[in-house]
Amino acid sequence: MRAVVRHEYGTADVLVVDEVPVPRPGRGEVLVRVDAAGLDRGAWHLMAGDPPAVRLALGLRRPRDPGVGSELAGVVVAIGPGDRSGLRIGDVVLGAGLATFAEYAIAKTTALCRRPSDLDAVAAAALPVSAVTAHQAVVDIARVTDGQRVLVIGAAGGVGAYAVQFAASCGAVVTAVSRRDKHAAVRDLGASAVVDRERVDPRDWGVHDVVIDIGGRRPLAQLGRLVARAGALVLVGGEGGRGPLGGTSRQVGAALRSPFLPFRARMFVSTVTTRALAPVVEAVADGRVRPVVDRVVGLGDVASGVSALEAGSLVGKVVVVPDAPTETA
Ligand SMILES: NC(=O)c1ccc[n+]([C@@H]2O[C@H](COP(=O)([O-])OP(=O)(O)OC[C@H]3O[C@@H](n4cnc5c(N)ncnc54)[C@H](OP(=O)(O)O)[C@@H]3O)[C@@H](O)[C@H]2O)c1
Repeated sequence: MRAVVRHEYGTADVLVVDEVPVPRPGRGEVLVRVDAAGLDRGAWHLMAGDPPAVRLALGLRRPRDPGVGSELAGVVVAIGPGDRSGLRIGDVVLGAGLATFAEYAIAKTTALCRRPSDLDAVAAAALPVSAVTAHQAVVDIARVTDGQRVLVIGAAGGVGAYAVQFAASCGAVVTAVSRRDKHAAVRDLGASAVVDRERVDPRDWGVHDVVIDIGGRRPLAQLGRLVARAGALVLVGGEGGRGPLGGTSRQVGAALRSPFLPFRARMFVSTVTTRALAPVVEAVADGRVRPVVDRVVGLGDVASGVSALEAGSLVGKVVVVPDAPTETA
């Protein structure tokens, strides 16, 4: 089968399309024919081996598994031994998988849910990691309620585009922080107000009941000034930074300092499970949330999609469709 692989850590230019064997599902796993696969920033971190601490798990000098991609929508074509999940060959699913930028990919049965017939594969593939993360941040952790003032930093990105929608659907008054060229898009997703992060000083971003930092680059002290007393700060992203933990060291610092702060400060690592996918699929079905796809690329154009992610030019997600034609030479 064809798959996007990388044999060393790096940015978009380490990616190539190669012929590789179709993987075999183990216990608790299924093989999925990939109809579409979303690109999320977490997959980029694994591709790049950044922060360095992830290399302890993935391979110190080079990645042991060359595959890339974590989200998928497709059809179950083989089931691992001893399966008790109830999934059947031919089931149409979405969820998280391994090395999903390929014609076939392995997924744990516990990380999949059935895809409703009116949700197409491209839209479904734009949901799993990003929308589940946004739902967990807004609903489970911040517990956003009607009328609250919610600031979403990184509002136009993969997670942010859903965080804005979930917060607005909870009845919050959402202020979206993004580059100015994305303001029309974030208003369209439900933001009542917008802030141009490149031109407006963070001291003028206002005070909010809930601050959800997805951009992941702001110092904790700066974020703290944006949170109302007894409010909540949810740290989703962790970018930049030095040392083995890179930008995630800020989240660890916030967790340690949380008991001494006048607001709740929470970090979390999202998990895509059948149960976590359910409210996301339900929100899409009843129209509270819509999948946000910036562009669709074929396997041969994954590098250009990754470059766009690195450049910060996307609104929502890149979705990879294995049989889409390659456009770049
Ligand atoms: N905790 C978890 O379980 C979890 C799960 C998924 C993702 N994440 C993390 O969440 C972060 C975002 O993921 P994503 O998929 O949404 O990435 P993304 O699609 O690249 O979006 C990131 C957004 O951050 C904004 N941004 C860039 N520089 C910024 C800055 N200096 N200040 C404020 N905003 C800035 C960008 O928008 P503008 O340029 O328009 O501002 C961009 O839209 C990543 O760090 C990712 O690893 C964490």
